[in-house]
Amino acid sequence: MTGDWWQSGVVYQVYPRSFADGNGDGVGDLAGLTAHLGHIAGLGADAIWITPFQVSPQKDHGYDVSDYTDVDPLFGSLDDFRALLGRAHELGLRVIIDIVPNHCSSEHPIFRAALAGDESARQRFHFTSTPNDWPSVFGGPAWEPAGDGTWYLHLYAPEQPDWNWRDPRTAPFFDDVLRFWFGLGVDGMRVDVAYGLFKAPGLPPLPPDVTPSPGRLRSNPLACDQPETPEVYRRWREIADGYDPPRVLIGEVNLEPARAARYTGPDRLHQAFAFGFVVAPWDARAWLAAGTALLEHPPVTWVAENHDVVRAPTRYGTPARARAALLTILGLPGAAYLYQGQEYGLPEVDVPEADRQDPAWRRSGMSRDGCRVPLPWPEGFAAPPWLPAPDGWERYLDSPSLPLTRAAIALRRDLRPDPADPVEWSVDGDDRLIARHRAFTLVVAMGAGPVPLPDGEVLISSDPLTRDGLLPAGAAAWVRPVA
Ligand code: NOJ
Repeated sequence: MTGDWWQSGVVYQVYPRSFADGNGDGVGDLAGLTAHLGHIAGLGADAIWITPFQVSPQKDHGYDVSDYTDVDPLFGSLDDFRALLGRAHELGLRVIIDIVPNHCSSEHPIFRAALAGDESARQRFHFTSTPNDWPSVFGGPAWEPAGDGTWYLHLYAPEQPDWNWRDPRTAPFFDDVLRFWFGLGVDGMRVDVAYGLFKAPGLPPLPPDVTPSPGRLRSNPLACDQPETPEVYRRWREIADGYDPPRVLIGEVNLEPARAARYTGPDRLHQAFAFGFVVAPWDARAWLAAGTALLEHPPVTWVAENHDVVRAPTRYGTPARARAALLTILGLPGAAYLYQGQEYGLPEVDVPEADRQDPAWRRSGMSRDGCRVPLPWPEGFAAPPWLPAPDGWERYLDSPSLPLTRAAIALRRDLRPDPADPVEWSVDGDDRLIARHRAFTLVVAMGAGPVPLPDGEVLISSDPLTRDGLLPAGAAAWVRPVA
């Protein structure tokens, strides 16, 4: 197989609040994660990506950072993190962590100084006496009164003020954050809102033909994807390449694949997350279009779930379809990202309104809580968990998704789909999606009925074949064609 590990690695995403609770307070933590690393290694993953555990008032569950180089006591200590890193490396798991450079917490000392009137600190954010008409991604206006007749910009929650990347102190500040974690031995960074950072100069009002949609930063072209932003990653790549082994940078670049491609390359981010299968409905032509677009702009990452979107069994309509999606992202050349609980086929939970915690819920009615309910393992959450689990949650421990995930990752290791190999896609009249590459052929039955498989050896299928050897509706299979 060509390339570095990250080009075809399987990365398991950990949302630490909901993964495993080491101290019995109802919130997951680093000790709980360390104790369960064997589960992740046992799946065959190459790496974990841990969403933020740095010091934070938790207004957006860690994406509001008040100290970038320490661990929030809710999750443990730096020593706990060192122990986690050591254990992960012993198990052969690389560790990727989140960095949040677009915004910080309103409790960050520099923002507090700005609010207290320190003019130099104010330059590091966006303060104005004439706010524009930009909306926040979480609903409502993107401006919050600072209490002195001015407003400050927050593209997300009011407790998440945006850094001013045109201030010359911002870039070196984040260089130091990277060096801190890379110096500890962290293997890579997932860059939150990597396409944010710079805003259009002068923060002009929206053009008359632009109406941003709630929840979608990219629908405000003035607030993201500015020409200066990809340049930031040249500097970050130099820093990452200065370590042995080189560290990896994966950006959340929620743009069309052609535009996202400007953020990656040998002198920029290694990879950008691709959300094609996250936004595509269960529809063969939509998947074909998503997959084709992604493959046109390597390096490719395949993602079907994360902590921001409705769980796949609910989004695609059935548990079987979610298993097929799992086999799809693991069965294509490129990197595959799994979200915790995907291996148990967890559905989206309808969290009672009174228990919802997502800051976006209060502002816009959008709630991501349903995909963040703690994992079902019995020993994990002694106290009532921070989000309630539905009755019978433990039954997912016996989900057929678990053996499927293990078997598919093991097969993938043996068969090594090569990210450099071309993929030949097609869809036929039965809504049978086929993706052929050198290692094997992926078939997904996306229509209403069962479909025949191409001649060859069926390596794995997400559901048993019918008695006639057909692939049932809503299932996927990998077939090694006859030579
Ligand atoms: C993207 C993260 O995935 C999401 O959870 C967070 O709310 C926003 N960025 C803001 O940091």
